[in-house]
Amino acid sequence: MKILVTGGAGFVGSHIVDLLLEKGHQVRVLDCLEPQVHGAGRAVPGYLSPEAELIVGDVRDHDAVRRALEGVEAVFHQAAAVGVGQSMYEIERYVSANSLGAAVLLDTIHRERCQLAKMVVASSMSIYGEGLYVCAGCGPVHPRLRPEAQLAAHQWEMLCPRCGGATRPAPTPEDKPLLPTSVYAVTKRDHEELFLSVGEAYRIPTVALRYFNIYGPRQALSNPYTGVAAIFSCRLLAGNRPLVFEDGLQSRDFIHVRDIARANLLALEKSGADYHAVNVGSGRATSLQELLALLAGRLGVELEPEYVNRFRAGDIRHCSADIGRARSLLGFEPSIAFAEGVDDLAAWARTQRPVDGVDGAREELARHGLIRS
Ligand code: UD1
Repeated sequence: MKILVTGGAGFVGSHIVDLLLEKGHQVRVLDCLEPQVHGAGRAVPGYLSPEAELIVGDVRDHDAVRRALEGVEAVFHQAAAVGVGQSMYEIERYVSANSLGAAVLLDTIHRERCQLAKMVVASSMSIYGEGLYVCAGCGPVHPRLRPEAQLAAHQWEMLCPRCGGATRPAPTPEDKPLLPTSVYAVTKRDHEELFLSVGEAYRIPTVALRYFNIYGPRQALSNPYTGVAAIFSCRLLAGNRPLVFEDGLQSRDFIHVRDIARANLLALEKSGADYHAVNVGSGRATSLQELLALLAGRLGVELEPEYVNRFRAGDIRHCSADIGRARSLLGFEPSIAFAEGVDDLAAWARTQRPVDGVDGAREELARHGLIRS
């Protein structure tokens, strides 16, 4: 098949490209080589396979998108601006790159009468807001963000929105109400809903994959707006203490990038998930403290983390994936255990010379009032 991967020079996209090439597909990449990821010179990353055809261009550029779609039979839409915190003070840029970018791509697919057998779009767990919790008295609950007064009192765990009692986090299924808490998350919900509704209308089998917290080789370590695993690796390698918000017991579902790429391939090959949104995670919750201990051990760096005793506006406390739907509709099973995957991330990190921009990014968030105590 001839397949287009937008954002194919990026972290996730490039792993999808590799798997597609391995399976004998012909791959074209449309990527703008975003400086925040690829550096000021917009260099083509060394890891991008020369077997893939690269068109350097923006997903909002009608002409580039038209060229990129020529003769294509399937599309993986991975191109996006991805900084959650940054999206809160570069609102127009994020809405434009993500929501408008998807609109241009879908318009062109329709206008050019592309004969697509599949569209797969990258969605995100961020659209849930908080994950699912269970209260001993009230059962499953879908809380909004923790109230500001509670956070100011440094009471970090989620309280039941109905009775105020204690809760425990539980795996989050796809039918949990969506409560996006950042501009980034709103644009990811747009991605998902735009693709699914256009796919449905024109009978193009479409799958939205809700990625949980992705880590692994090729993650842009110098991008301080990326996820916490990359940020901590960068800090440790630079000899700087990792900064931990809250108490480090908040948890996420970390999923290796190659498992994410495999889920994308399954979405292409199988029809079970067509017209659905599907979680792609490991199904396991890991706290930041566990992540830090593993990473520091693998990188061989002994540095006490700094508990900053503050919190980031819009942060959730816990969210892990219920992967029942991915299992039943796609036959997906995560294959890389976290400890093994962290080895992989550490091996990649050691080959990099990341520039630690975390302090700058933190100051920027603080300047906008997005870090609070
Ligand atoms: C968010 C998005 C997710 C996206 C990810 C990376 C939400 C709900 N989810 O995830 O879709 O893939 O960003 O862009 O918006 N932390 C520290 N120290 C740091 C950095 C982070 O303690 O230096 C903490 C944060 O306060 C948070 C946790 O680590 O509690 C995870 O943060 P992060 O990796 O940025 O991702 P999420 O907010 O989970």
